This record gives sequence, structure tokens and C-alpha cells, in this order.
Amino acid sequence: MPYPSNPIETLYYTMNYVHSSIRRGLENIIKHLEESKDAIHDDLPTFVNYCLAWSHHLTMHHKLEEDFLFPVLNRTMNFSEEKDAHDVVHNKLDDLEAMLHELEIDPKKFNPDRIREQLLALKEPLFDHLDAEVEHLKPEELKKAGVNASELGHAWQRMEEAIRASMHAS
Ligand SMILES: [Fe+2]
Repeated sequence: MPYPSNPIETLYYTMNYVHSSIRRGLENIIKHLEESKDAIHDDLPTFVNYCLAWSHHLTMHHKLEEDFLFPVLNRTMNFSEEKDAHDVVHNKLDDLEAMLHELEIDPKKFNPDRIREQLLALKEPLFDHLDAEVEHLKPEELKKAGVNASELGHAWQRMEEAIRASMHAS
């Protein structure tokens, strides 16, 4: 499928792509944890860093949506359910990050079953949210609601600038 030039189509195309990468990242972490506990234990910092990088990527994704995308969409649609779902997911993500930081300080606290439990508790609301959001962002839905394509394109540009700025900051 060629990359679309209309902002409404671009949004849908890119969101599907980003959501797949978020989903695959979490599935990889869970699979790795289930299949390679000993290897993880032997190199805990790499595992912890990978989990934190994934978590940071998800947090950034949701923050950009809330700062730039939802305000435009909310002029003619209602994305409050997505915002509520972000809050549920981030409560669980905070617990996960707290545990990962604990492991950085004290690797002896490594408990693969506990981490797996936390990841699974996060997975269900997150995956439900990712599916529901792309469904809500279908181009025909946005067009039917009268979302302004050029305003959306402008929000998209500002999002890309914010991503570039965050890359320079880190
Ligand atoms: Fe999203």
C-alpha cells in the first residue's frame, strides 16, 4: 500500500503501523520472559533497559496524541474514551516502571512470575485500547464527522516537530 498523502488517510495508516510496533514490543518481552528466564537473569540490565525503552515509547505516543491529535479530533468527535483508556494503561505502566527501577537498584529482587503478571495485567487494557482507537480513526468515520483535513495535517506537523525535539533533547 503506498503512503497516503491525505492527512486523514496518513493518520490511519501510521496509527496502524505504530500500534503494531507497540503490540509486538510487548509480546516480545512476554515471550522472552517466558522462554529465557535464566538468560535474562544473567543480563538483567539489558532486559530492564529494553522494557523501559518500550514503556517510554508508549508514553510518548499517548502524550503526543493527547497534546496534538485529540484536541483537533474532539472538535467534531469524542475521544474521551481513549483518554480514559490511556489513564488506565498508565497506572499499570507506572507500577511496571517502579518495579523495573527497583531491579536496577537491587537485581536480587528479580521475580519473573511477578513481572509477567504485571505485563499481562497491562496487556489486556492496552491491546483493547489500541484496537478501539484505530477503529475510531477509520478515514470514513473522520470524514463523516467532518474532521478538517488541513487542521489535522497541521497537528501532524507539530507532532513530528515535537518528536524531533525530543530526540535532540535525549
Ligand atoms: Fe494511538
